[in-house]
Amino acid sequence: MSDQASSQTTPGGVPAGESPTYRLVVVGGDGIGPEVITGGVRVIEAASRIFGFSVDWTQILVGGVAIDAFGTGLRDEDLAICAASDAVYFGAIGDPKYSDPKAKVRPEQALLKLRKELGLYANLRPVTVQPILAASSPVRESLVKDVDLLIVRELTGGLYFGKPSETRYTSSGREVVDTLSYTEHEIRRVVKLGFELARGRRKKLTSVDKANVLESSRLWRTIVEEVAPEYPDVQLEHRLVDACAMSLVTRPAQFDVMVMENLFGDILSDEASVLAGSLGMLPSASLGERRTAHGVFGLYEPIHGSAPDIAGQNIANPLATILSGAMLMRMSLGRADVADAIEAAVAATLAEGYRTPDLIAAVGEQPDTKKVGTQEMADAVVSALIAGSSLVVPSRHTWVAGT
Ligand code: IPM
Ligand code: MG
Repeated sequence: MSDQASSQTTPGGVPAGESPTYRLVVVGGDGIGPEVITGGVRVIEAASRIFGFSVDWTQILVGGVAIDAFGTGLRDEDLAICAASDAVYFGAIGDPKYSDPKAKVRPEQALLKLRKELGLYANLRPVTVQPILAASSPVRESLVKDVDLLIVRELTGGLYFGKPSETRYTSSGREVVDTLSYTEHEIRRVVKLGFELARGRRKKLTSVDKANVLESSRLWRTIVEEVAPEYPDVQLEHRLVDACAMSLVTRPAQFDVMVMENLFGDILSDEASVLAGSLGMLPSASLGERRTAHGVFGLYEPIHGSAPDIAGQNIANPLATILSGAMLMRMSLGRADVADAIEAAVAATLAEGYRTPDLIAAVGEQPDTKKVGTQEMADAVVSALIAGSSLVVPSRHTWVAGT
């Protein structure tokens, strides 16, 4: 691409010469993580040239690769690098060689530590169904085709972090305890975020709890009721988690934003992901309270795991990571323009027939199917991004040099 800076503005409307620089940390991690994140980084780099911004990337090791290299899944200095950045762009972690439940260090501890130490209290998992995948969901097409929901999962409290969490050895045998604890502040901030997000969408919030049994859920429900009057425009409902799990399959299109505590969110978000037809398409954002110069600090990752069985083969689907990059641009960098362009490029790429093997397995092969690997799929998104942006840019525009 020739990128001479002769125009006055970039397609993103940023005056040439006022190119902002964003500080992003990139974590490839384990398994397919490095491959999908490479694809994602290439898309953001292409966007930077089109929209006229720069990215200052810092790469760090987290997860099994960090245990191998340093004996710990996350070093303090790398945590500090994340804390000083605008956002973290994350591949995946998890390595079967550390999956023994008795193992002292496990890659997942690094992820939990990142969430806790960076104050990433809210995990956003949007579930939408790409038209090409609607028929491939195990749930009937007529039920999933209008699904557009957003799970907001509390991420730094509840059973995952409550103390005590231990096994006790008593005279009558082993005994174990995990603790579900929340402060009022922890509940209120995530509930408020749920209302805010609902306000920007279809204005419906479902609060999920187990208030018929758990004390923690009764405080949760009380706080939701206390916050609700601040959002009279948002329609609120309370659902018990067990019944809600059922409705997610029987009537998924009724949900808009759903807010819930950590473990409920872990479980229901995996359930909801099935609606989309392929795990390889779903992005996520984990947001903190800290504001950066551009937006809210966050960590962005595909919801799929490290898939060690297909690692290193260039066959993993990078679209969930690329879509996570779009969420990063929108939420942490305040660049809805770039996010919209990336999302449109992904839709265009799918419409053109590009398919990684997981998508072919899900939707079958059509005459226009173009079988591609991880990097070729990312290339196709880059091409669609360039094609899409030149369509909206008056012809007098030329490219503005990026990084
Ligand atoms: C997730 C994962 C993690 C979690 C694991 C890997 C610790 O399942 O992000 O949903 O339980 O939160
Ligand atoms: Mg999970």
